[in-house]
Amino acid sequence: MSDVLIRGRVLTFVREPAGIDDAGAYRYHEDGAVLVRNGKVADVGTYADLAKRAGSGISIADHRPNLVLPGLIDTHLHFPQTQAIASYGAQLLEWLNTYIFVEEQKFQESQHAAFIAGRFMDELLSNGTTTAVAYCSVHPESVEAFFTAAEERNMLMIGGKVMMDRNAPEALRDTPQKGYDETKHLIGKWHGRGRAHYAISPRFAITSTPEQMEMSRALVAEHPDCYVQTHLSENRDEIAFATSLYPGAQDYTDIYTSYDLLGRKTLLGHCIYMSDREISVLAETGAVGVFCPTSNLFLGSGLFDRDRFDRLGARHSVATDVGAGTSFSMLETMDEAYKVLHLQGQRLSPLNSFYMMTLGNARALDLEHRIGSLHAGADADIVILDSRAKPAMELRMQVASSLAEELFVLQTMGDDRCVAEVYVAGRPMKRGRREQAKTLIERAAALV
Ligand code: GUN
Ligand code: FE
Repeated sequence: MSDVLIRGRVLTFVREPAGIDDAGAYRYHEDGAVLVRNGKVADVGTYADLAKRAGSGISIADHRPNLVLPGLIDTHLHFPQTQAIASYGAQLLEWLNTYIFVEEQKFQESQHAAFIAGRFMDELLSNGTTTAVAYCSVHPESVEAFFTAAEERNMLMIGGKVMMDRNAPEALRDTPQKGYDETKHLIGKWHGRGRAHYAISPRFAITSTPEQMEMSRALVAEHPDCYVQTHLSENRDEIAFATSLYPGAQDYTDIYTSYDLLGRKTLLGHCIYMSDREISVLAETGAVGVFCPTSNLFLGSGLFDRDRFDRLGARHSVATDVGAGTSFSMLETMDEAYKVLHLQGQRLSPLNSFYMMTLGNARALDLEHRIGSLHAGADADIVILDSRAKPAMELRMQVASSLAEELFVLQTMGDDRCVAEVYVAGRPMKRGRREQAKTLIERAAALV
């Protein structure tokens, strides 16, 4: 692949911002550029410097006046729920039983799984998300479809088959042994292949017997380099049910601790109704609490207490949780995150929002050397954001006077229309791909 210079207003974070004025937390080049070579970032700086060093003959993708950022990262969502977004009226357990456990049965069909996996990846890309951590269904076919679609697009994706052996319809249940064997086989096939990473995925304590939790413990011990994902303390009825199924545990978190499932690679969806003790256990083990604002509002679950996580030193990340989450857009997700925190008297600065979607989420995955920031040696996963994509945004931007204000407009008013382009390992995947497809169709038409 030949070198490309991506020109625009380059913004990348180097650490967590301490507030809205913390200019030391990021690098910003008003007329900047990213040099991409063989799918990697080779250099970042001002356009003038990089163009001089690159010499004549270099291809230039000129995205001025748009922003150039690292690709966005979503740390929790469900690929088989892509077509079940906007399912009306129920809170978590009723919603799972009424809609989700019906929808996920469709994924025993490889063809359906492949169709939705392709649409899912393209929807992520259309929203500027280049890496996501996803649950597949219980069927290995769904995992094949998921990683195949990611590989076709060369995306760095993390995912795994959910394990469930109770409190779900028979067609969605595995057994402790089957869950173990299928997971083991999928790890062997996919983990570390290209850009794929596997996540061992017992869905949550309600849908796994103690025997399946034992098998999960074995999988985690045998594959310490895989991620682990599950759900924790999302809804009061869920907590009561989960803890009733594990009477020996002192609280919901203790169920997972007692099976050695908590560590730096563990992502715990929601974590809303947590005692200080439970958050402290996350802090000690390095497990990550995943804040899913659109989902938590949609299901009427509750409000994630970010400040308490920070005070107790626990790691956290942010995610859409599609299909309880109502949008694939990380911009729309941060808009709702802002409001969820505001309701609790907590403030989320736009700098912090953009940090969270990029470097913050990369750090939560311990992948900051590869994704989430633009530095020499990083993978060239890049998003181009247009802060004037909608007429109302263009009007609002006429009176914006700082970068932080522009970022706040983007997160408050923006969506997929603001994603002008997205690069995956250096290849344009939104407009660029559409144009390539159009050219091919035109060429084919000219031949007949
Ligand atoms: N808890 C267990 N499964 C799920 C799921 O699919 N979505 C959400 N939001 N919570 C869950
Ligand atoms: Fe979820």
